[in-house]
Amino acid sequence: MVNPRLALLHPYPFERWRELTSDIRPPAHLLPISLGIGEPRHKTPALIEEALVQALPALSGYPATAGEPALREAVAAWVHRRYGVALNPGTQVLPVNGSREALFAFAQVVIDDTRPGATVVCPNPFYQIYEGAALLGGAQPHYVASDAARNFAADWDSVPAEVWARTQLLYVCSPGNPTGAVMPLPEWQRLFELSDRHGFVIASDECYSEIYFRDEPPHGPPIGSLEAAKALGRDDFRNLVAFTSLSKRSNVPGLRSGFVAGDARWITPFLLYRTYHGSAMSGMVQRASIAAWGDEAHVVANRELYRTKFAEVTPMLAQVLDVKLPDAAFYLWAGLPAVCGGDEIEYARGLLAQYNVAVLPGRLLAREVAGRPNPGAGRIRMALVATPAECREAAQRIVSYTQELTRRPSP
Ligand SMILES: Cc1ncc(COP(=O)(O)O)c(C=O)c1O
Repeated sequence: MVNPRLALLHPYPFERWRELTSDIRPPAHLLPISLGIGEPRHKTPALIEEALVQALPALSGYPATAGEPALREAVAAWVHRRYGVALNPGTQVLPVNGSREALFAFAQVVIDDTRPGATVVCPNPFYQIYEGAALLGGAQPHYVASDAARNFAADWDSVPAEVWARTQLLYVCSPGNPTGAVMPLPEWQRLFELSDRHGFVIASDECYSEIYFRDEPPHGPPIGSLEAAKALGRDDFRNLVAFTSLSKRSNVPGLRSGFVAGDARWITPFLLYRTYHGSAMSGMVQRASIAAWGDEAHVVANRELYRTKFAEVTPMLAQVLDVKLPDAAFYLWAGLPAVCGGDEIEYARGLLAQYNVAVLPGRLLAREVAGRPNPGAGRIRMALVATPAECREAAQRIVSYTQELTRRPSP
C-alpha cells in the first residue's frame, strides 16, 4: 500500500533535464558551466558561519517549534526595517526550515479535501513545489499563464469565476522564478479583492526579495505582500501569509532557514501542524539566523555581485536572445530567436553538446494547459549564480552557439 497521490507527482525539472541529456558527452576541453540550477553559489558570510559555530551548545536541547522569541523578534525587526510593517512576533511570525518545506506544508494545513473540487491556483511557469503540495493535499492545481507582453504578469483575469469559487489556496511568487517579475501594488489589490470575494488564502513566495538591480522606484526594492496589505489598509493581513528565506539573501541554502509571517489565524494552525510534523528549527540554525537577519552589509554586497553579473551578461545575450534586465531575482528568462523553431529542448541539448553550458529548457518549468501553448516553450532559464568570469564565458559561448544556429541554412 502506498499513498496513491504520490503517483500524481511530476518528475522534478532537473531530473527531466538529466534524462533528456543522458546521451550527451559534452566537449571535455571546455570547462563545464551550469546556469541550470538556481542554487546560490556566492560565499556564505563569515558572521553567519561564526554564529553557527558559537551556537554548538544548543545541540544539547530540543528546540521549540515556534522558535526562540529572540529569533521571532529579529525577524519582526527585519520586516519592519525592510517593509515598514509592524508584526507581533508572538502570533504573526514562525521560523521555517527554508521556504520550500513551508510552502509545501502550508498547503497541507489549508486544503480541505472533503470539499468537492478543492483547487489551488498557481502561476505558470512556477516553482514545482506548489504543484506537488496541491496534489499531495488532494487538490487540483489550476495554472495561470504569465503574459510575456505584460512583463510576465500572470493573467489572473483568465481564471473562470467557478474556479475561483472552489479555490482554497493561491500561490504567488514575487519576484518570480523564473521570470524575475515583481507584482506591483494594483495586482496585489486585485488578488486581495478576489481573496475577499472567494475566501481563499494567499501564500506569497518572496524568497528572491533581496536580489534586485535598481534602487529607484518603480524598480527599487520589490514590494512585499505584507507591505502591500498594509498600504491597502489590511492591517490584520487577513488570509495572507508571506514566505521569506535566508538562502538567497544571505547565501546560505545549506542552513535551511526562513520564516513565514502574516495572518495569525493561519499561523496558529500552521504551528499546530508543524508540531506534529516535527519541523522545529535547530537551535544552532536559529542563532545563525538571528545574526543573518540582523546584518544588511552582506546583503548589499551580495546584491552588488549579482548586479555586476547582470549588467555584464544581459547586453551580451541580448545580441542573440529576447532578453532584458528583469525586475529582480537571479534568472534570465530568455526567448529564443525564431530560427530555433521554438524548440528550446533541442537548443539546450545542442548548447550542452557543443559548448558544455547547461541552461534549463523553459517547458520543464511550466505546464501545457488545454488549448494553450506551454508558456515555457521557446524560452530558457539561466541562473547567474556562477562567478562573474564563468557567467561571462557562458554568455560568450551562448552568443557563438546561437549565431551559428542563426547562420545555418534552414533545411
Ligand atoms: C521560487 C522559489 N521558492 C522557494 C524556494 C526555496 O528556497 P529555500 O527552501 O532555500 O528557502 C526556491 C528555491 O530555489 C524558489 O526558487
